[in-house]
Amino acid sequence: MNIAILGAGGFIGSNLVEFLLERDEHQIVGLDVTDDKLAGIGGPGFQFVKADVSQDRDLVEGVVRDTDVVVDLVAYANPSIYVETPLKVVDLNFFENHRIIELCVRHGKRLIQYSTSEVYGHPSGDAYHEDTSNLVVGPIQKQRWIYAAAKQLLERVVYGHGLAGDLDYTVVRPFNFVGPRFDYLVTPGSMGGPRLFAHNMSALLTGGPMYLVDGGHRHRSFTHIADANTAFQTMLDHPGAHNEIFNVGNPSVNVTVRQVAELMKDIYQELTGRPAACELVEVDGETFYGKGYEDVDRVPPSIDKLRALGWEPRHGLSEIFTDAIEYYVDAEPPGE
Ligand code: UGA
Repeated sequence: MNIAILGAGGFIGSNLVEFLLERDEHQIVGLDVTDDKLAGIGGPGFQFVKADVSQDRDLVEGVVRDTDVVVDLVAYANPSIYVETPLKVVDLNFFENHRIIELCVRHGKRLIQYSTSEVYGHPSGDAYHEDTSNLVVGPIQKQRWIYAAAKQLLERVVYGHGLAGDLDYTVVRPFNFVGPRFDYLVTPGSMGGPRLFAHNMSALLTGGPMYLVDGGHRHRSFTHIADANTAFQTMLDHPGAHNEIFNVGNPSVNVTVRQVAELMKDIYQELTGRPAACELVEVDGETFYGKGYEDVDRVPPSIDKLRALGWEPRHGLSEIFTDAIEYYVDAEPPGE
């Protein structure tokens, strides 16, 4: 099978390319604006196309036309980006993605659309269920919700095409995947920028502060990137995955941001034998991200739908962070 991965140069994309090439079953085309995270990943089953979906439209159409399955990972996903530049986020995450949907419809290609757990917004029940939970967003003046609403509308358009019978799709809702090549490391004391794991990892490497936004009381359900890859494989292969939405997460992992910081310090000390010198420092959300930041408490997902197709997350909390930290312990710490 030919698989085109749009956004192959990102964290999820580069891990997916590596996973698929190891399995050696498909021809992969990876498209992105940069291939930095793909360094050392490659082989006869892989071709990289350097392109920007918002500029190189003919090139992107050619890639879609020549493949069997389109995996759409193109998006800005960091809270700092949607707090600072919400219009940039809606342009890419809705309007450019909408063009990709249209290309899949025009050329009759299967679309595996990556969305986000953010579509659930504020918890409205015990566990997020793909087909029955209400999707509860917040005020216009809090930019998190332009991101969630853009992704939500994109899902609704994908679903609408499925209903009209002109698109074969699968929608994926990731729950805080963690692993190698996650975002980027930052200098000590930096605020905003990448997501939690990258901030904490940077602090471990540099001795800088580990920030607890608004006290670090919010919960997240983290997922090992290896489990995310096997979930993809299930959704790709299983006939029951067509025209469905799936949470990809690990319901047994439900921790606060403060617990993550403490756990990462412990794991780092165990792995390296070096003390984790970084201090936990509380900071308020608008100081860390900018005006209009609103956080959300996330409950663990229901994964019954994907379980019914035979998938199961295999990696628990400690393994998720141990494997990711291990990848970075010998990394060059970011400079001052
Ligand atoms: C983000 C994006 O909004 C989603 O697109 C994406 O689906 C999700 O990550 C994900 O990775 O799946 P969020 O979970 O809020 O959502 O991202 P993080 O930046 O990792 O924040 C997690 C929590 O840690 C938040 O409570 C945040 O305020 C806090 N945080 C973050 C800190 O306390 N310190 C930091 O240094 C960074």
